[in-house]
Parts: sequence; C-alpha cells; structure tokens
Amino acid sequence: MTDQAEQASAGGPAAPEIPGKPTSASRTTLSHIMTHSDTNLLGTVHGGVIMKLVAGAVAGRHSGGPAVTASMDEMAFLEPVRVGDLVHVKAQVNWTGRTSMEVGVRVLAERWNESAPPTQVGSAYLVFAAVDADGRPRRVPPVLPETERDERRWQEAQIRRTHRLARRRAIMELRERRAAEGIED
Ligand SMILES: CC(C)(COP(=O)(O)OP(=O)(O)OC[C@H]1O[C@@H](n2cnc3c(N)ncnc32)[C@H](O)[C@@H]1OP(=O)(O)O)[C@@H](O)C(=O)NCCC(=O)NCCS
Repeated sequence: MTDQAEQASAGGPAAPEIPGKPTSASRTTLSHIMTHSDTNLLGTVHGGVIMKLVAGAVAGRHSGGPAVTASMDEMAFLEPVRVGDLVHVKAQVNWTGRTSMEVGVRVLAERWNESAPPTQVGSAYLVFAAVDADGRPRRVPPVLPETERDERRWQEAQIRRTHRLARRRAIMELRERRAAEGIED
C-alpha cells in the first residue's frame, strides 16, 4: 500500500471527507421473548450478551462494514429479566470520532404476567472501532444528531470519551512508571 493509500484507509490527512449519516439510519430495536437458553445459573437473563449483539449490529450499519468492540462501560443492570419476559433492546450511535463510535443501549422489559408498560431494566455504552479486512481501523461517517435528545447524547458521549482516554493514559503512565522502577507484579 502506498503511504497515501494507507493514510486514506486510516482516515489520515489524505482521506476524503465521508458524508454524515443521521442517527435514525442505524438506530435498531431488537425484541425477544426470553427463554431458558438466555439465562444464567440464577435463572435470570445474561444482559451483556444481548446488549453487545444489538450494539454491534448498529455499529456495523452505521459504519457500513465490520466493527470490533474497543470498550464497554457504565453497564447498569437495574432489575433482573426473567424467562418469559418480552425484552426490547434499543441502540443507537451516540457519537463518532475518526474511526470509533459510541453506541448507547437501553434495555426495556415487559413482564410476561403483567399488563404494564415496558420499564427500563438496563443500559450500557459501548465503543466500537470500524475495521477493514485486515483488522485495521478505518474511517466512520460522522453521525448527525437529529433531535435535542440525540444532541444531548452526543455531548454526554463526548464527556465519556474524554474521561476514557484520560483514564487509559493515566493507567498506561502508572504501569510505565512502575516498570521503570523495576516493580514486577
Ligand atoms: C480496537 C482496536 C481496533 C484499536 O486499534 P488500535 O491499533 O489501538 O487503533 P487506534 O489507537 O487508532 O484506535 C482506533 C479507535 O478506537 C478508539 N479506541 C481504542 N481503544 C479504545 C478504548 N479502550 N476505549 C475507547 N476507544 C478506544 C481510539 O480512540 C480510536 O478512535 P478514533 O479514531 O475515533 O479517535 C484494536 O485494539 C483491536 O482490534 N482490539 C480488539 C477488539 C476485539 O477483538 N473486540 C472484541 C472483543 S469481544
């Protein structure tokens, strides 16, 4: 690959602008009645697996190709989900960087034995990096918030991004310092 082609695939200075995509273009809801095959040893449902599945689909749709999970944070399981419950997993791209995207996921459940509106039972934020066929990060289209709520989510995601990078940097620096002092663990 030439230097210029390499820069373009990673989104460097030679990369052409990619047209933006509205949030609604990749927003996805998966509805699923929970069965025994979705449960853990306690008989409640594995929340993380289904969140990751839907978030991955959103990241793939937004970026138009494969995307890998770079990080997963602020996972909250507010209430257990039980076999028979109808679960709705809603996900959208909240924020985009050069090659990464934050996907926000909300999990709502309708109890199989109650006629109440769905309640939120969980949420998470996942960062995906779009990758090419060789697993190298590739550019993603900027997400275009469409509503005030999308705009708020974009701004909050930017705050989380700043904190994630700062935390990662601080941990790397600590490890380097400890290694330089000859501390082994
Ligand atoms: C994620 C991955 C592609 C990043 O590759 P890399 O060589 O570190 O590339 P970069 O440093 O350019 O990072 C690419 C993007 O991901 C973001 N990123 C990388 N690690 C991150 C992390 N831990 N948290 C948040 N964002 C992260 C970078 O900020 C960058 O985003 P930007 O271009 O929008 O600024 C690479 O680490 C990888 O393939 N990891 C394994 C992923 C995987 O297998 N996931 C499945 C686990 S179940």
